[in-house]
Amino acid sequence: EAEDVQAAFDAAVAADERIEPRDWMPDTYRSTLVRQIAQHAHSEIIGMQPEANWITRAPSLRRKAILMAKVQDEAGHGLYLYGAAETLGTSRDELLDKLHAGRQKYSSIFNYPTLTWADVGAIGWLVDGAAITNQVPLCRCSYGPYARAMVRICKEESFHQRQGYELLLALTRGTEAQRAMAQDAVDRWWWPSLMMFGPPDDESSHSAQSMAWKIKRHSNDELRQRFVDICVPQAEALGVTLPDPELRWNEERGHWDFGAIDWQEFREVLKGNGPCNEQRLHRRRTAHENGAWVREAAAAHAAKHTATHAT
Ligand code: 3HC
Repeated sequence: EAEDVQAAFDAAVAADERIEPRDWMPDTYRSTLVRQIAQHAHSEIIGMQPEANWITRAPSLRRKAILMAKVQDEAGHGLYLYGAAETLGTSRDELLDKLHAGRQKYSSIFNYPTLTWADVGAIGWLVDGAAITNQVPLCRCSYGPYARAMVRICKEESFHQRQGYELLLALTRGTEAQRAMAQDAVDRWWWPSLMMFGPPDDESSHSAQSMAWKIKRHSNDELRQRFVDICVPQAEALGVTLPDPELRWNEERGHWDFGAIDWQEFREVLKGNGPCNEQRLHRRRTAHENGAWVREAAAAHAAKHTATHAT
């Protein structure tokens, strides 16, 4: 019996079939997916904070409307992903408790501050651009609910990336001060965006297993390289310089060579010592506490509704 279900699972993964919530799956497959989907959802929710910082200070009504739509999308991505995680037998409450207690992560990228309006453009172009590079392959993930959530989310990420690119284009075609502001934002967001793809392959504790289960379809370094190759021509079109003096085209590799990433900085941010870690978690916990009455009211309403309809 045990061998049969394991064999059926292995055959389904080998045949690129989807594993669905009711299918048998190894406990470690389940826990890996809960870990990754939960941290993905946490990233979406925490990721609302850096950009929300500029909603009240957007330079025009048009820019304000675009930014509000994007931040609302991120909230929706978070709820979508918590929903996908719940199909694995966990609950959003449990996952949020782990986030608030520092027992689950969110993407390192959101621990950096958004110092100027140009940061909103750099985040759209680079951070959402990196997210797309990482998430398109996840549309082919072996776990059905996660793969399907990614299809919808990738469509919205494309809007996020385009609006950021267009925002930067407006600045680089503007005054000298606006061009300098765009360049400063790219200087600050470029290397942390490369870190979003995770540690180097030889230091990635989960990649081998995640790739065997077809959760991860390409390695961290492969997707990082793909992202660099996409960004170099875009930076040229924008008229900004990527802050890497070692960036150069490598004819035989057919890719852009780039400089060393500061993995010590990455490890420090993951340990909680990034510029904004404290502030992000504090604001998240406060928002959760301030929202308790809404959850209680909704639960009370649902209970009353069930009671009246039960009779
Ligand atoms: N930030 C924080 N933690 C990171 C990280 C990062 N950028 N990169 C890796 N880690 C963590 C991993 O979670 C793991 O720690 P854990 O065991 O406590 O979970 C450890 O570092 C080792 O890394 P691995 O490469 O072995 O881990 P994974 O196989 O999980 O690969 C990943 C990391 C590529 C981020 C993968 O988890 C993944 O593809 N996740 C889904 C995508 C995602 O979470 N994206 C968040 C980006 S933000 C976003 O999408 C919002 C958008 O609106 C911009």
